[in-house]
Amino acid sequence: MKLWGGRFTKETNQLVHNFNASISYDQKFYKQDILGSIAHVTMLEKQEILTTQEKETIIDGLKGILTDLENGTLEITGEHEDIHSFVEANLIDRIGEPGKKLHTGRSRNDQVALDMKLYTRDEVIAINDLLKELMVVIHRIMTENTDTYMPGFTHLQKAQPVTLAHHFGAYFEMFRRDRSRLRDIYDRMNYCPLGSGALAGTTYPLDREYSASLLKFDGPTFNSMDSVSDRDYLIELLSALSTIMMHMSRFCEEIILWNSNEYRFVEIDDSYSTGSSIMPQKKNPDIAELVRGKTGRVYGALVSLLTTMKGIPLAYNKDMQEDKELTFDAIDTVKGCLALFTGMLDTMKFNKPVMEASAKNGFTNATDAADYLVNHGVPFRDAHGIIGQLVLLCIDKGISLDELPLDEYQKVSPVFADDIYEAISMKTCVEKRNTIGAPGEKAMAQIITANARYLQES
Ligand code: ARG
Repeated sequence: MKLWGGRFTKETNQLVHNFNASISYDQKFYKQDILGSIAHVTMLEKQEILTTQEKETIIDGLKGILTDLENGTLEITGEHEDIHSFVEANLIDRIGEPGKKLHTGRSRNDQVALDMKLYTRDEVIAINDLLKELMVVIHRIMTENTDTYMPGFTHLQKAQPVTLAHHFGAYFEMFRRDRSRLRDIYDRMNYCPLGSGALAGTTYPLDREYSASLLKFDGPTFNSMDSVSDRDYLIELLSALSTIMMHMSRFCEEIILWNSNEYRFVEIDDSYSTGSSIMPQKKNPDIAELVRGKTGRVYGALVSLLTTMKGIPLAYNKDMQEDKELTFDAIDTVKGCLALFTGMLDTMKFNKPVMEASAKNGFTNATDAADYLVNHGVPFRDAHGIIGQLVLLCIDKGISLDELPLDEYQKVSPVFADDIYEAISMKTCVEKRNTIGAPGEKAMAQIITANARYLQES
């Protein structure tokens, strides 16, 4: 059934119908469409635009549709253009005349703007919750690994020793910012477009504030032309989702490296790994690679929607229908990735001795060896040169700084004494770094406590 047959003398070409229709994907928000309609007729009755009897009949009909859709007795079929047409046609079939009054003072333009907002609002909350579950796992790993020493890298070259807790703490911060971005988006988007009509409001005495409050918005939107054509919140959401994917993708890249035969820092659990059809020895980090790979898809949605929106004059234009598949796909992708990634992390094993040996063998304590000399009165630039020479000597001998005998140290500088070994142990190197945000145990303990509080409170 069409909502707009009156003005036409010919049937729509079938290909045009197929090209134009959105029902194959906008059925995703059938529930939001029905809840929006219930709020709309509740307001219409309060304003005496509908009688109480009409309102009740319509709401009963809408609730019946919802129940039948949820228990599978009603099927959404493709002859309707979109979910809005489907629900309205079905309502009229069920309850007859009063059903024809549902759309009083409303257009599909404000209706779809509302449905999409209601849908994404719920999804923002769901993604926020998934991020929290991930952060709970990161937090657990942090608390268990404040003395798991490992190399920190710059340029993918071993730089200075850190701990696994500190390294994971970096991701905790990223995901904390991601959640705060979602919060901002929620607050900014939470204004109700219902009652904006096609673009210019309506002639009926609608109470838009009442509709907004029924649907738990902070209030109505302020400009009816903007209301029906604003897709900023989707662009913001796709941008926030892209950033979440970028963070997960970086994390995945590290896990892939760490899980390789060359690093062996971690072992991905069998239940989160896959094998090769030809090479029997292989255990592949496919999940991490897929998360990394799907990042491009979410970025794609952001760029697509930005591009779609850039040339659209006010107010509603059909181009905007393109927002749906992109947003739905990005949301589903991010939710899937977050759940899988969290499971993979939660079951991963950390090879602590290998991490510590890697830190030692990479001269990550060279800065601390130079600091030792500085603390004994050697100017830093000279100390840098002396340690550089010793590193060269160690590379030549194939040993680490803590394996170099004291007499070799003293040949280069008489300042060295027996306590050099203690000064350059991984433990000392890390423990000395206790400024806020540094890997030292005291500094980490403070952050871990603050993070625990954050997880409790948010
Ligand atoms: N399916 C449409 C969309 O997603 C609904 C709004 C239709 N409005 C219109 N004037 N044709 O944008």
